[in-house]
Amino acid sequence: MGLLDDRVAVITGAGRGIGQAIALTFVKEGACVVINDIDNAPAEETRQLCDQIAAGRAVISTGSVTNSKYTDTLMKTAAEKFGKLDILVNNAGITRDSVIHKMTNDQWDFVIDVNLRGTFNCIRSTVPFMRDVAKKEIEEKGDVKYHRKIVNFYSTAAIRGNPGQINYCAAKMGNVGITREVAAEWGRFKINVNAVAPGFTDTRLTQPKEDTDGTIGVPKAQRDATIARIPFGRPGTPQEIANVVLFFSSGLCDFVTGQEINVSGGMQIP
Ligand SMILES: NC(=O)c1ccc[n+]([C@@H]2O[C@H](COP(=O)([O-])OP(=O)(O)OC[C@H]3O[C@@H](n4cnc5c(N)ncnc54)[C@H](O)[C@@H]3O)[C@@H](O)[C@H]2O)c1
Repeated sequence: MGLLDDRVAVITGAGRGIGQAIALTFVKEGACVVINDIDNAPAEETRQLCDQIAAGRAVISTGSVTNSKYTDTLMKTAAEKFGKLDILVNNAGITRDSVIHKMTNDQWDFVIDVNLRGTFNCIRSTVPFMRDVAKKEIEEKGDVKYHRKIVNFYSTAAIRGNPGQINYCAAKMGNVGITREVAAEWGRFKINVNAVAPGFTDTRLTQPKEDTDGTIGVPKAQRDATIARIPFGRPGTPQEIANVVLFFSSGLCDFVTGQEINVSGGMQIP
């Protein structure tokens, strides 16, 4: 018995890092998953890893969460391949860091588009498969068959206010607003909406900037200083974030909605 037996999930940005760990965890717990990513090769890698756990329970859908026509197709893929959609994890995210006086309009728009508009696009695209299905169950049978789940992503960097990330901080705190709004609006359909804030977690986004082409990553000195502030003395792992996403996606949290949780190894946030 898994915590997600018979559930169907869409996970955005599931080709790498935290999203990949979520996809593998969900399949281990019995779910079928649609692996979204903007990059096909990493998505394919995640699919193959899922297949090694349980063959045929993962499919890929490549495209950008910034495109609402595409996100409609993404949610339809879940229904077409697996017959329904129960869980949406809005994990896709990106950074383009710069101090305010150097930040370009393109950097601002890009980060807001992926991290904030992407969350809105995906939630709206679930309407026919989650809200409308729940509404019909209530009209016909008096109640829903089970709670459906949405998990959004924000960030401890945004709660704290991280220098060089005005675009990212704005987008991620916007996701907190979305979480509370949708939880209130769709509570009557028994759709739980919660949010996870990873702390500093070992992925592509937090690798030393000196090791990248300079578009993403964190300068090594800032990286070391951030890790030094974590009481557990190390970054989180993608699996540790996925474990909390699993809780929010499972029946264990049916009476929890509109909530946010930091998964940060105890890092103090003023
Ligand atoms: N790593 C951390 O320390 C940390 C901290 C706080 C929050 N987060 C958040 O966790 C989530 C996962 O990040 P990660 O660290 O695993 O990063 P990552 O870069 O390892 O993985 C993110 C994935 O999202 C995909 N993606 C980017 N833009 C996309 C788009 N437009 N459409 C679809 N997919 C897209 C990327 O291709 C990538 O595979 C993000 O929302 C991120 O902001 C991460």
